[in-house]
Amino acid sequence: MEQIVQQIAAYTQEIQAFEPKTAEELEQYRIKFLGSKGIVKAMFGEMKQVPNERKKEFGQVLNSFKQLAEEKYAQFEELKNGAGEAQAAVDFSLPAELHRLGTRHPISLVRNKIIHIFERLGFTVAEGPEIEDDWHNFTALNLPENHPARDMQDTFYISKHPDWLLRTHTSSVQVRTMEAGKLPIRVICPGRVYRNETISARAHCFFHQVEGLYIDENVSFADLKQTLYHFVKELFGEDVRIRFRPSYFPFTEPSAEMDISCIICGGEGCSVCKHTGWVEILGCGMVHPKVLENCGIDPEKYTGFAFGMGIERITMLKYQIKDLRLFSENDTRFLEQFTGAI
Ligand code: PHE
Repeated sequence: MEQIVQQIAAYTQEIQAFEPKTAEELEQYRIKFLGSKGIVKAMFGEMKQVPNERKKEFGQVLNSFKQLAEEKYAQFEELKNGAGEAQAAVDFSLPAELHRLGTRHPISLVRNKIIHIFERLGFTVAEGPEIEDDWHNFTALNLPENHPARDMQDTFYISKHPDWLLRTHTSSVQVRTMEAGKLPIRVICPGRVYRNETISARAHCFFHQVEGLYIDENVSFADLKQTLYHFVKELFGEDVRIRFRPSYFPFTEPSAEMDISCIICGGEGCSVCKHTGWVEILGCGMVHPKVLENCGIDPEKYTGFAFGMGIERITMLKYQIKDLRLFSENDTRFLEQFTGAI
């Protein structure tokens, strides 16, 4: 018994002095003391030689020995993960590797900016499905079947369902808002739209729009003009000039297209404005009485204006981007250039 206690005292000293530097040393320690054939286990094995009246006392000695051996191991456990060595190899004077943050897509930046301008005028955002039915995309908007104006927007139809299509504009969301019946209405409808066009530097089979709708009593064309004037000045600055040209859309009467003085050349004439000094940025008009009627709104009581613009076009002007395909190619060298808000 005395012999064993002495032995334990010697091992205790050994453990106390032990300071491993490597995972290997630690592992050897584990095998020696804590392994299934290790010293701790062997010492417990000696218990049976101890006379009964001293078993309790010896048990206490054994338990604290085991505890010590285990604590020592736990203290250096991180060596196992190589952390100790890695830490020793770190040079804290080296500059840190920078976290690479993502950037917002330029289309999102410009969309958010447009939304923000209209929100300050009291417009709220409305959204709707990208797969639409014929009624919301065309018929309700005064484009009955066989109407020639349907050809203005080459449409992708869903082959399994004759009535379904990919929306060609977010005017479909305006129809849904009008049908919901809560007046007055002041909404903007941002979203992705689809048209069957050949992909080139200036056209794509999908792009993004923001359309707007304002319906109340006594809304006039002057309100439309003033709203759009404000929008353009907020987006492009005070110096930009604006003009309206008469146009045609089945869902508005009268209809107009709006041009701004070319922000690349300031109106002098360049390749972007095709040497005219002007670029078209949106279509607009007073909501056609038939459209109001189709959506359950009394055209005798209410009038309204609507407008719609392509976000790609505006983004290209704003950042002088020459090829629309860059927006959807996910080339990070292109995307990384657009940091922060505009
Ligand atoms: N929906 C039209 C388009 O996609 C834009 C527009 C909206 C024109 C509202 C007039 C009024 O081209």
